Amino acid sequence: MPYPDIRPRRLRRTPALRRLVAESRPAPAELVLPMFVKEGLTEPRPVGSLPGVLQHSRDSLRKAAVEAVQAGVGGIMLFGVPARRDETGSGGIDPDGILNVALRDLTAELGDSTVLMSDLCLDEFTSHGHCGLLTPDGRVDNDATLAAYAEMAVAQAAAGTAVVGPSGMMDGQVAAVRRALDAAGHQDTTILAYAVKYASAFFGPFRDAVESALQGDRRSYQQDPANLRESLREVELDVAEGADLVMVKPALPYLDVIAAVRDRVDVPVAAYQVSGEYATVEAAAANGWVDREQVILETLTSIRRAGAQIILTYWAVEAARLLRERY
Ligand code: PBG
Repeated sequence: MPYPDIRPRRLRRTPALRRLVAESRPAPAELVLPMFVKEGLTEPRPVGSLPGVLQHSRDSLRKAAVEAVQAGVGGIMLFGVPARRDETGSGGIDPDGILNVALRDLTAELGDSTVLMSDLCLDEFTSHGHCGLLTPDGRVDNDATLAAYAEMAVAQAAAGTAVVGPSGMMDGQVAAVRRALDAAGHQDTTILAYAVKYASAFFGPFRDAVESALQGDRRSYQQDPANLRESLREVELDVAEGADLVMVKPALPYLDVIAAVRDRVDVPVAAYQVSGEYATVEAAAANGWVDREQVILETLTSIRRAGAQIILTYWAVEAARLLRERY
């Protein structure tokens, strides 16, 4: 051994020492719970590929949201599942569409006690399942889609959302949404840009949760998992267009991207631990192959260490409790 006798293990000797020197630890208030509400349900319904996650009725959503806030989570990201879909996704814009109605419910129930967020995308509302409007020959039409996002953003803001999350990966979507919100008097509505979103197979269970109609894939608008520099370009564009917060998605397979984004910009960075990340751990844990709680905390800690301050996770409520118990 070199002298002086330097022993990093001294700092690992007791739980109290380890707790004292921990560099990264997600806080409950930095966790955001994604929730699903489905039009026409009278009882909540489990999502088969996401054990523990529910499609909510309007009633059960209200109750579960209150419980989540009481458990200490920092925010809620809401997704709507309509009873009917059409070519243009009109249910996303309609003030009486399920997402907007549920946003009104939650605004009345929760006020400013939490941060209410809403997914701003057409894929849950279109009969073809794409995130945008289609040209007659079936391609996703970027600029026509921007106009729809602008209307949808204003409808969500009017319904009380505090944060809109444009997630469709259309070029120019943040600027279009900011301009529309401002013109409608919603200067205070915040934009969480899904700045970096990969065309990921980890979204599979989510598509069950929203009963996605998608045939094919989203590779003409979501990013290639091979690319990192492209993500930095996306983030810089979104910040220049007025994004208040930027997000990387999925999280665990893209820790290098989270770290690079954190280095590059000064706005808060969020990461979305997506459905497939959750489902793979749940499936392994159900088989007794991993220690479920340890793996949950390890993944969240890793995402935090990589540089994401805010984490969207289906484990938000449970993780908030685990974090309080253990630290
Ligand atoms: C788009 C959207 C998706 C997710 C969040 N917003 C699906 C997609 O892009 O296909 C996926 C989230 C998850 O997998 O948990 N509205």
